Amino acid sequence: MFGFNRAKKAAAVAAATAAAAATALLTAPSAVAAPQPIVGGSTTTTTAYPFVMQITDASQNQFCGGTLVSPTKVVTAAHCMVGETTSSVRVVGGRTYLNGTNGTVSRVSKIWIHPSYTDATNGDDVAVLTLSTSMPYTTAKYVTSSQTSVYAAGATARILGWGTTSAGGSSSNQLRTATVPTVSDSSCGSSYGSDFVQSDMVCAGYTSGGVDTCQGDSGGPLLIGGVLAGITSWGEGCAQAGYPGVYTRLTTFSNLVTTQVNS
Ligand code: ARG
Repeated sequence: MFGFNRAKKAAAVAAATAAAAATALLTAPSAVAAPQPIVGGSTTTTTAYPFVMQITDASQNQFCGGTLVSPTKVVTAAHCMVGETTSSVRVVGGRTYLNGTNGTVSRVSKIWIHPSYTDATNGDDVAVLTLSTSMPYTTAKYVTSSQTSVYAAGATARILGWGTTSAGGSSSNQLRTATVPTVSDSSCGSSYGSDFVQSDMVCAGYTSGGVDTCQGDSGGPLLIGGVLAGITSWGEGCAQAGYPGVYTRLTTFSNLVTTQVNS
């Protein structure tokens, strides 16, 4: 496979490092250049995007993102939940900064992972978490199974997360966002060969690279027209020319997600 980075634990370490770096910045605000985005993009807040959730460990260290689709249901990536249990994860809403203590923290009462999931490059990279505590935030709408035209090549997609701002870099203390164009399936297939599973994935990014999700952004939203249409899944490095980000093609899993949301 194409050097798929499932750096979830590394992302957690990076998040802790970023939090420490942010603390250090308080005493030397002009000594360090402003961090770059997701990769490319700009800072934003959970006030602007209230449905964007931090998925954290029991100590509230973020390692993935998620999207609130009902007060007690969060859509995320299956690869984020491998090895996790209902007692090992928390969902944090309304917290723009990784080192914040505000917002709402919920335990998880159920983790549903797509039953066919094996590896992100094989598809089926979707999971739904059931929260023990309702989140008092606006939820996101998600695509229906018939809305496949949203992925038309060149559509503007919005990505969001606290992930690293370069491949192998450190996480962003503040939530970041960027827009990237969707990429045709034929083009993405040319980039990734058989690791690109057209039925289960959609790609987004500029031909020249420069803007992308990266480690720690996994599980978070890809929005098209403000509607959840993808889940950050994988890519070759981050923001590399010729290697767009790969997202779970949510139309394929929409009915399964709805079953979980209504369960
Ligand atoms: N697998 C990564 C994660 O666990 C996300 C990688 C996205 N990569 C990319 N080039 N878009 O956070």
